[in-house]
Amino acid sequence: MRIAIIGAGRIGGGIARQLGAAGHELMLSFSREPAKLAELAGQLGARAGTGSPAEAAGFGEVVVISVPWSTLPQALEQAGPLAGKIVIDTTNQFGGPPLPPAGQTAAVFNAARMPGARYTKSFNTLTSAFQAETAGRTGDQRVVQWLCGDDAGAKQVVAGLIEDAGFAPADLGGTAGCAVMEAPRRPGAVYGEEYRAADAAPVIEAVRAGRPIPPAPSYA
Ligand SMILES: NC(=O)c1ccc[n+]([C@@H]2O[C@H](COP(=O)([O-])OP(=O)(O)OC[C@H]3O[C@@H](n4cnc5c(N)ncnc54)[C@H](OP(=O)(O)O)[C@@H]3O)[C@@H](O)[C@H]2O)c1
Repeated sequence: MRIAIIGAGRIGGGIARQLGAAGHELMLSFSREPAKLAELAGQLGARAGTGSPAEAAGFGEVVVISVPWSTLPQALEQAGPLAGKIVIDTTNQFGGPPLPPAGQTAAVFNAARMPGARYTKSFNTLTSAFQAETAGRTGDQRVVQWLCGDDAGAKQVVAGLIEDAGFAPADLGGTAGCAVMEAPRRPGAVYGEEYRAADAAPVIEAVRAGRPIPPAPSYA
């Protein structure tokens, strides 16, 4: 697929590396140092074009948005309309404002900032170093990337990309019910915790039933 990356830093650059290795076509964008962006694109066999988020969003069937929270308004303004695009939002609500009002997930808040986009959220719960180290694990060691969104077709595509990136997708449901995959790290949440597919299933069941999730697993 054609994948646009808006913010090819630690997380966005890692996703670009993983999806590029899986054969997807990439365009990187959004940097204060265009030469650095072009160099990374060269290393990954990706395009950088002019570095403009609008150009990348025009190229991508899927748009990965991976910028610091406080930079998101600027990145979205530069991207222009994302209506019809499958979006993967990796951001966490550190910084701001604007911040989601109490009781609203960051996913609901951000989806509203991208009108018409086929919004999903993923790749946000584990550190970039851990993601880079564990991508491609096989069998029952494969690490989960949680996923939420309100567009089932978009989530199906993103679940495939999560597999291609070397992880196991675990769909928590809609954006309104995904608080457990959002910052901060705390008991009763999956944010910041390693999960493998077998331990993800009871979490999905609990979230969908509106129950507290089981304690986070720990792996030797
Ligand atoms: N780091 C983690 O472990 C981690 C884990 C999970 C989720 N996340 C979330 O994922 C998102 C991205 O985090 P990250 O750690 O990957 O960030 P990062 O390494 O700082 O990357 C951010 C990217 O955005 C670009 N950028 C930042 N400000 C810009 C500006 N004003 N104009 C143009 N380009 C700009 C940077 O390009 P230049 O530096 O070249 O300008 C960089 O490529 C955040 O919302 C974070 O909360 C991070």
